[in-house]
Amino acid sequence: MKARVDADTCIGCGLCESTCPEVFKMDGDKAVVIGSVVPKAAEVTCKKAAEDCPVTAIVAS
Ligand code: F3S
Repeated sequence: MKARVDADTCIGCGLCESTCPEVFKMDGDKAVVIGSVVPKAAEVTCKKAAEDCPVTAIVAS
């Protein structure tokens, strides 16, 4: 599974980093994805972060 943050859409609320710090971290006022592949153990929380992003800036599939 991979994840991507649309930097143009992200409003920097930080929820994804709180929900799934294995995959998302804040870089200034935008979230970025750590690594190229989502670790197996983080897939569930990564999907939750994508679902919970208030502006749907995360694509995880
Ligand atoms: Fe941005 Fe959504 Fe995360 S707004 S900081 S990608 S929860």
